[in-house]
Amino acid sequence: MNTEKDLSTYFMDLEHRYGAHNYHPLPVVLKKGKGVHVWDVEGKQYYDFLSGYSAVNQGHCHPRIVEALIAQAQELTLTSRAFYNNKLGEYEKYITQYFSYDKVLPMNTGVEGGETAIKLARRWGYVKKGIPENRAKIVFAKNNFWGRTLAAISSSSDPISYHQFGPYMPGFVSVEYNDIEALEKVLEDKDVAAFMVEPIQGEAGVIVPDEGYLKQVAALCKSKNILFIADEIQTGLCRTGKMLACDHENVRPDILILGKALSGGTFPISAVLADDDIMLTIKPGEHGSTYGGNPLACSIATVALQVLKDENLAENAEKTGNLLRQELKKLNYGFIIDIRGKGLLNAIEIEHSDPEAAWNICLKMRDNGLLAKPTHGNIIRFAPPLLMTEPQILDSVAIIDRSLTEFMKS
Ligand SMILES: Cc1ncc(COP(=O)(O)O)c(C=O)c1O
Repeated sequence: MNTEKDLSTYFMDLEHRYGAHNYHPLPVVLKKGKGVHVWDVEGKQYYDFLSGYSAVNQGHCHPRIVEALIAQAQELTLTSRAFYNNKLGEYEKYITQYFSYDKVLPMNTGVEGGETAIKLARRWGYVKKGIPENRAKIVFAKNNFWGRTLAAISSSSDPISYHQFGPYMPGFVSVEYNDIEALEKVLEDKDVAAFMVEPIQGEAGVIVPDEGYLKQVAALCKSKNILFIADEIQTGLCRTGKMLACDHENVRPDILILGKALSGGTFPISAVLADDDIMLTIKPGEHGSTYGGNPLACSIATVALQVLKDENLAENAEKTGNLLRQELKKLNYGFIIDIRGKGLLNAIEIEHSDPEAAWNICLKMRDNGLLAKPTHGNIIRFAPPLLMTEPQILDSVAIIDRSLTEFMKS
């Protein structure tokens, strides 16, 4: 390990040798993060245009969040829900008032939030709606992504997610995204308990539905006595320029799922919010998790939520996101066929004879000091932390421009 290059190679080789090969990371080894920047083991600085898949909305190692983490870690970290603790109730009061729901059910990862929402919807379907036992159906949008458990992949339309992992969860139905007529037909079925949907499909490549879609979804679900579940794990918490992406259309889901930035990237924390009519259908012993609602998570999440408001991150995401798209649209590369997004959840779509074009562009951007990752081969997501300033956006677009030119010439 006597050259700088050797250091990165050393860490990448370790992961390859001892870790499962379930990811294909961009070749860069990070060791430090602060705000919108990360640094690699050689000390090179980058803009982070992925933000831990939108977990780091508040910026890397936000001092207030880290301070809350350290303080609580020195006091009490885990009680399990076998006992009460002095942090959970206050957090529950804070988050339910913050989002105006009666109750919260705390979990850890995003996918557990999704599982929880589906269990709640099934239970509500039997107890409140009167669906005959074991007949409840949950409807999902095609190209959804909500994680990697067997239930999550059972609702997936992406063979890479589900192929050779069957048999799959029964009672799941899929419908075209952004197609109200198709949804209306599927929701005719009296056994449907809920429709679960991302307000903008993140992993599918930042697919923004038509204006009015969410409003129509909410109205349709209400008229048919079907729960509207919004998966705001990626779109929520100021990412799209509002606290929730549903706020763009002033709709209130019956069940709201949050995760990722609920901890500002420090800890796996997720939450499911609903009113009593739904939430109280689950009784003691019927659902939970050892770590769900632990005092450390409660302290972190409370501050992570405060930071979003105190630092006006929704407004900043809206403003800098508009600037980002405006500047990207000025770039003139024939192989960029679309630039889309809301707030700081954005993507460019590439059509190029080189099937590795998006990956190769990401490598060029890395060389020039900006980290992003392709999704679905030809789409590159641009989702930096929400603290970006306007000069930083302009600087980033200059890096992207330079990288695209270099890619074109290569
Ligand atoms: C919309 C959405 N839901 C759920 C998840 C799953 O979250 P986690 O990876 O924390 O389980 C993700 C992760 O990318 C997501 O984007």
